[in-house]
Amino acid sequence: MNHFQYKDGELCCEDIPVSVIASEVGTPFYLYSKATLSRHFQAFDSGFSDIDHITCFAVKSCSNIAVLSLFAGYGGGADIVSGGELFRALQAGVDPRKIIYSGVGKSEEELRYGLKSGILLFNVESEQELHRLGKVAAEMDVTAPISFRVNPDVDPKTHAYISTGLAKNKFGIPINEALEIYQQAAEMEHIKVMGVSCHIGSQLTLISPFVESLRKVKSFVGRLAEKGIIINYIDLGGGVGITYDDEKPPHPHEYAKAIKEELGGLKATLILEPGRVIVGNAGILVTEVQYTKTNRGGDKEKNFVVVDAGMNDLTRPSLYGAFHSIIPVKEKEGTSQVVDIVGPICETGDFLAKDREFAQVEQGDLLAVMSAGAYGFTMSSNYNSRPRVAEVMVSGDRFAVIRERESMESLIQGESIPEFLEKDDGR
Ligand SMILES: Cc1ncc(COP(=O)(O)O)c(C=O)c1O
Repeated sequence: MNHFQYKDGELCCEDIPVSVIASEVGTPFYLYSKATLSRHFQAFDSGFSDIDHITCFAVKSCSNIAVLSLFAGYGGGADIVSGGELFRALQAGVDPRKIIYSGVGKSEEELRYGLKSGILLFNVESEQELHRLGKVAAEMDVTAPISFRVNPDVDPKTHAYISTGLAKNKFGIPINEALEIYQQAAEMEHIKVMGVSCHIGSQLTLISPFVESLRKVKSFVGRLAEKGIIINYIDLGGGVGITYDDEKPPHPHEYAKAIKEELGGLKATLILEPGRVIVGNAGILVTEVQYTKTNRGGDKEKNFVVVDAGMNDLTRPSLYGAFHSIIPVKEKEGTSQVVDIVGPICETGDFLAKDREFAQVEQGDLLAVMSAGAYGFTMSSNYNSRPRVAEVMVSGDRFAVIRERESMESLIQGESIPEFLEKDDGR
């Protein structure tokens, strides 16, 4: 359930017509519904309300500080993967004692920042990272609380690019080899072993891979206990899928029920790192039709709708061949045609939809790219020197720009022409 619905033929976000916002902020822009964000966070979190847990929102999926502060207000923590995400989470008011730091490539500077900020846990992904963290913690004369991210070798049955828990993926430490590194870490003066973490992939539509990896983690926790290593935190990562098209992902409560059943009486705080399931269907990308055209070659013809949002604004269709439903902001009746909806970028791979049966639209029409709240704005770029778009949040009949559209000046911010190019040196 989300709060993007047609009312009298006009797509509205909660109580505001999308076209009203477009006329004030221009296009393209990302639009989030506060009521949907809240509802999805609480639906997920409440599934675990009867057990000790922390819902650490995956900042990478949607990192605007307004969104992060909303979840922090509901008691949420944050799953971060960079110093930049840590900065955002702290700025948004997330309690550092609810921040966990994942990622395979943490720099010394990032580790220092995490330690200085007093975060809950570092999810360590390699032996070298363990030693780097131990060294940095010793220099700072503190103790680093850690989990290891173990790789349970479970097939999440999702897109290859967002599958992370197989032996062939770069993430984590193979669960069968992890005992040794836990024993090593337990001996280190500036390291405190606290947990086990895993994350097997994103956009999972089945519960069974989660249960299978938890089963493996549980048995591993048992083996650690036999060696005297007690685990206080079990982190199951994120990954619950959403409906983009006709997928039927589990309801968060079904997921929670299955996880709690598998956990049994295990005494540990459960950490969850949901991203997409909370924000995915709470955001849309609004774009305007610039041109329509038909290209003919031989007996073939192809219809294009050229819009002002490109693969730099929403990269998922180009990157993963991902499907996003696209609908006109003013409901259309009458004939439809098969079109490619494409952006202005100079790449054939720049499309939002391919061979889509679509209502007849014309220049100036507004379109809404649905389910764009997760990995939408956060994966956007300045490719083709396009300023990144605005982000807007609606609450009831009010809206606020929560990130301004970038300006032309911002495109060259920090750039300079060195003196040796300014002088005529005979180039
Ligand atoms: C370590 C980690 N945790 C959590 C997530 C969030 O996943 P999702 O958005 O599918 O819930 C990701 C996404 O890739 C991740 O890498």
